[in-house]
Amino acid sequence: MMKAVFYFGLIFTAASITFSGAVDITNFQVPNSYILDDDKTKPLILDCAYDISPNETGLVVKWLFNGLNIYQWIINQKPFALGVMKKHIDTTYSPSSEKNDQYRAISITNPQWNMTGNYTCSVQTFQGVSKKTSELKIIKPESDFKLAAEVDKELDDLDVTCSVEDIFPPPHLAILINGVQLSTEIKAEKDTKGPFDVTATSKKALDEIESPATVTCILTIPGTDYEKREETVFSAPAPVETEFLERTEIDIDFEQPLANMESTSEQLEGNASCLHPLTLLSVVSIFAAIFFS
Ligand SMILES: *[C@@H]1O[C@H](CO)[C@@H](O)[C@H](O)[C@H]1NC(C)=O
Ligand SMILES: *[C@@H]1O[C@H](CO)[C@@H](O)[C@H](O)[C@H]1NC(C)=O
Ligand SMILES: *[C@@H]1O[C@H](CO)[C@@H](O)[C@H](O)[C@H]1NC(C)=O
Ligand SMILES: *[C@@H]1O[C@H](CO)[C@@H](O)[C@H](O)[C@H]1NC(C)=O
Repeated sequence: MMKAVFYFGLIFTAASITFSGAVDITNFQVPNSYILDDDKTKPLILDCAYDISPNETGLVVKWLFNGLNIYQWIINQKPFALGVMKKHIDTTYSPSSEKNDQYRAISITNPQWNMTGNYTCSVQTFQGVSKKTSELKIIKPESDFKLAAEVDKELDDLDVTCSVEDIFPPPHLAILINGVQLSTEIKAEKDTKGPFDVTATSKKALDEIESPATVTCILTIPGTDYEKREETVFSAPAPVETEFLERTEIDIDFEQPLANMESTSEQLEGNASCLHPLTLLSVVSIFAAIFFS
């Protein structure tokens, strides 16, 4: 009986210690996304700050990637890296000179897109444990991003193609004409884990397009702020007849004095190269009529 009470008391004490003054992660710093750039010398730092009571002992900090150990630091010992990230963790990195914080963070050198995943920080003492997990997307920016709009003369529609190459994680592509999103057909290279090549295509009937039209492709990576745009202006090719009519239109006021007539003729001369011969003829005859009247 005495024994049972003693054990119960022990368990109770342990539980209350764990839930009161024990170690607690207060600032877990794993970004939602990280964009790889050409500067490979810049490491990716993941940090895990915690509060620890002065009388807690046996501190062990661990980092896990998708549930697998990649780093471990036992207080008063040297930290070490292991597993898939072994060669990519700089174990000399120290965010703080405080004894309890010295090697709590990890510095990932030369990060790669396939280090995208769930990162866990686990902090443990003899008195308690605290864990935090967060997903980090490592973005490998595209090597190429192209947009093309071409008229399909047979079908009388506009074919829009937007393509992106060598990007990770898999992106989303949206095609818009004058700000209105079109339905798209997406083709992605699915065999690999990444990086991906993705192509989106859309069609729209030419007579439904208000020309000139702004054609836009928006590239995003879901769950991140990553966004890029490509834009092109499409002008519907005008039928030949319409062009002819526009260019031959002359607006001459017969009531105007001769001085004004001269300036009109200068403007016409400037565009003479694109005037139809008939127009020239009519201008000459109008001149003749005014001159000889
Ligand atoms: C630490 O010590 C203080 C007093 O010395 C005590 O009140 C507290 O419960 C202890 N905390 C832990 C986690 O042992
Ligand atoms: C990432 O891919 C490379 C090969 O390209 C491989 O050597 C490495 O182990 C992979 N890293 C992870 C964390 O899967
Ligand atoms: C990370 O965790 C979330 C939530 O548990 C899960 O949906 C996701 O698939 C995980 N990511 C990886 C790469 O394991
Ligand atoms: C030629 O005509 C266009 C309009 O069709 C006008 O904008 C341009 O200024 C003209 N050029 C000259 C040299 O008058």
